[in-house]
Amino acid sequence: MAAPLTPDGLAAPLLAWFDRHGRKDLPWQRAPSPYRVWVSEVMLQQTQVATVVPYFERFMARFLSLADLAAAPLDEVLHLWSGLGYYARARNLHRAAGIAVAKHGGELPRDLEGLQSLPGIGRSTAGAVLSLALGQRHPILDGNVKRVLARCFAVPGWPGETRTLARLWDLAEGCTPAARVGPYNQALMDLGATLCTKAAPACGRCPLAAGCAALAQGNPTAFPAPRPRRGVPARAVLWLVLRNGAGEVLLERRPALGVWGGLWGLPECPDGEVPEDWCRRRLGLAPQRVELLRPRRHSFTHFRLDIQPVALALGQSAGAVADGADRLWCDPTRPAQVGLAAPVARLLAELAASPPTSIPTGDPV
Ligand code: ADE
Repeated sequence: MAAPLTPDGLAAPLLAWFDRHGRKDLPWQRAPSPYRVWVSEVMLQQTQVATVVPYFERFMARFLSLADLAAAPLDEVLHLWSGLGYYARARNLHRAAGIAVAKHGGELPRDLEGLQSLPGIGRSTAGAVLSLALGQRHPILDGNVKRVLARCFAVPGWPGETRTLARLWDLAEGCTPAARVGPYNQALMDLGATLCTKAAPACGRCPLAAGCAALAQGNPTAFPAPRPRRGVPARAVLWLVLRNGAGEVLLERRPALGVWGGLWGLPECPDGEVPEDWCRRRLGLAPQRVELLRPRRHSFTHFRLDIQPVALALGQSAGAVADGADRLWCDPTRPAQVGLAAPVARLLAELAASPPTSIPTGDPV
């Protein structure tokens, strides 16, 4: 077997591989300004390249510059983000653009500390922006890179632990070359995304295989160690599909804090509360029960949400409950141009295809 990798031996074979196999024509790699790279990095934080590409193109067509993004209403930003998930990313992007205009003359700061002071930009994202857009020498450490380094150097422990993370940052720093930093960082991410994958690494094609410590131990997928297991708690809610006489559905803006914060959704009633009572209390209206719709489950990192949609008819007198600011009526066949939580958009599409029965049945919940 060849000698184990050392940090200063990693860049050369990786860059040679990148020159032949790396991705060099992604939309954010064309005219890579700090603004374009930042938006792409934030979109790519929890989402795959193929999903991000059309969102990035639409976003850039609408918000050509940082100033355009800062000047736009948050709702429009969230609308263009609808379906990408993790909406705090979009809210942070919008806030950061506002700060850049107010405090940095409409530009992103060009140093690590300044970038990291903006909401939603951590050390790795700041390093990626400065290296990919400006060629500055900074390491990155996103999920893919943690996996590559943990395997190359057989780093024990779960990267969520402070000690393990600190060791990975030290390695990331030590491996980063002085020249071609942008291509090197892109290569690390590409290797992690395409060959050094979580469950089925293609070690036979990997440019680092000869010196990879995890492969030498015979078990590359044992690195990095997984998060110690704990069960995720579950929460149950009722989503009220309240329809007026015209078949429109009432949407509410969700509270800024919490899941899908600031997006539009269906009025939510705690499980255990009677939906009709909730409507009387919150809206001053007495609805008639129509039917229970198909329940659904949404998994977040830290908990699971069990959603039971309940269709209710409000009848002709319902119009006044929507004030436009935090409540609106939405025709499911023509969804409103606002940021919708993904399961709400799906539910509206289902309602457009098959509206709930209009005759109340009085079924118990
Ligand atoms: N994931 C995060 N940043 C990325 C990038 N620049 N290219 C590919 N995947 C990524």
